[in-house]
Amino acid sequence: TESTLQKIISHAKEYGFVFPSSEIYDGLAAVYDYGQYGVELKNNLKALWWKAMTQLNENIVGVDAAIFMHPLTWKASGHVDGFSDPMIDNKDSKKRYRADVLIEDKAAEYEKAGDENRGQDLRNRLARLLEANDLEGVRNLILEEKIVCPVSGTANWTDVRQFNLMFSTQMGAVAEDADTIYLRPETAQGIFVNFLNVQKTGRMKIPFGIAQIGKAFRNEVVARQFIFRMREFEQMEMQFFVRPGTQQQWYEYWKETRRKWHEALGLPAAKLKWHVHEKLAFYADAAVDIEYEFPFGFKEIEGIHSRTNHDLSKHQEYSKKKQQYFDNDLDENGKPYGNYIPYVVETSVGADRLFLAVLSNAYTEDEGVDAEGNPKTRIFLKLHPAIAPVKAAIFPLMRKDGLPEKAKAILDDLRYDFNVIYEERDAIGKRYTRQDLIGTPFCIAVDYQTMEDDTVTIRYRDTTEQKRVHIRELRSIIGEEVSF
Ligand code: GAP
Repeated sequence: TESTLQKIISHAKEYGFVFPSSEIYDGLAAVYDYGQYGVELKNNLKALWWKAMTQLNENIVGVDAAIFMHPLTWKASGHVDGFSDPMIDNKDSKKRYRADVLIEDKAAEYEKAGDENRGQDLRNRLARLLEANDLEGVRNLILEEKIVCPVSGTANWTDVRQFNLMFSTQMGAVAEDADTIYLRPETAQGIFVNFLNVQKTGRMKIPFGIAQIGKAFRNEVVARQFIFRMREFEQMEMQFFVRPGTQQQWYEYWKETRRKWHEALGLPAAKLKWHVHEKLAFYADAAVDIEYEFPFGFKEIEGIHSRTNHDLSKHQEYSKKKQQYFDNDLDENGKPYGNYIPYVVETSVGADRLFLAVLSNAYTEDEGVDAEGNPKTRIFLKLHPAIAPVKAAIFPLMRKDGLPEKAKAILDDLRYDFNVIYEERDAIGKRYTRQDLIGTPFCIAVDYQTMEDDTVTIRYRDTTEQKRVHIRELRSIIGEEVSF
């Protein structure tokens, strides 16, 4: 429900995960900053993805390409001409909307009211109009359905126009000589243009992959749902270059592999589903999204696309540089496969969307009782210990008698291996609560017994169970749980 999302947004802000960008100036729409715990969680997600892709695969290597690219890149990729949304303005409120979203919202309204057929029929009509790029038809559909502007309440609409989603800027100091360049709307093109650089310098043999994590920018017009749809976001993409004819097999492989990875992170199988694309881009031969059940419904977190040799062919055409690979493996007739432009299977996941998925999944309200037996809700983040921002918090029971020094010695011993923190303020119960709220899997308390026998209590976030263990066991107990 909406209120669950609201709770997550408030929690993320209150406990230092995500803040609105430039908040003291009232924020900037669909742009967000990660706070002290958010950056740790996001870095952990990126590090796990990087490891799963590069370190655990002999034939996948990484790159870190620039955000700015030669403008022809975006001609070749189709983004200059085709990366746009149909927009419509209301003449009274002067508000701009995505025409397709207005119609989809109307369809959802019918469905909600129990008229599934009417909703589906509307969606189908919209899909046909968009496919034919019939913008006038889209406008007529809005008028026919008597869709009104939510702000003005009127149906006084302009024409529907295509609005490109790329941000542009000027490169070069002198205005007349300056070139219009774009902030990349996806990281994938930085991989394609480096395909031969990496293949040659790394002596890579097909099949092989190139992975990249980096910022991407889209002037999203409908910016809703917190960090689900942002104007500046991060992608984790991998292009897997394969021999033509083997793409189906690799597509299946990456589909399954990527879904299992999300499950290993702790996203429950029941909250993940496939969304197979029925209508494909003309060059693609298969595409599927992995969807996660967010508080606002099932939505895409990752796309796996079999893109044929479309992207490399286009770059060959625009750059006039051959994008071929010589395959000296032998075919069934004993002849080398020879020269070809490789086919590509892509996996593409948004780091921020994944962040929102794991945060939504982790947010837990446990109905329990307090010390007096009154009902009390315990809120905690049930994050996989591998991605938790802080792995352990170390508390001295009292701020005297050498307990703080003892606790700090444990901190100093563990901090080289794990992100651990020390806390001595407030009552111990309050300290546990605070760590629960940021998802710290372990709290370690140093008390008077510690001073005698070097044992501490370790408290587990999910069960609140406490155990007495020797200080020398801590590294392996924590290490075991945070490994992935
Ligand atoms: N290279 C393929 C590509 O960019 P996409 O479906 O447009 O495909 C891939 O984007 C992923 O990037 C999405 O599954 C989503 O996780 C993330 N993403 C896309 N647009 C986003 C936005 N505006 N805000 C946050 N994440 C976004």
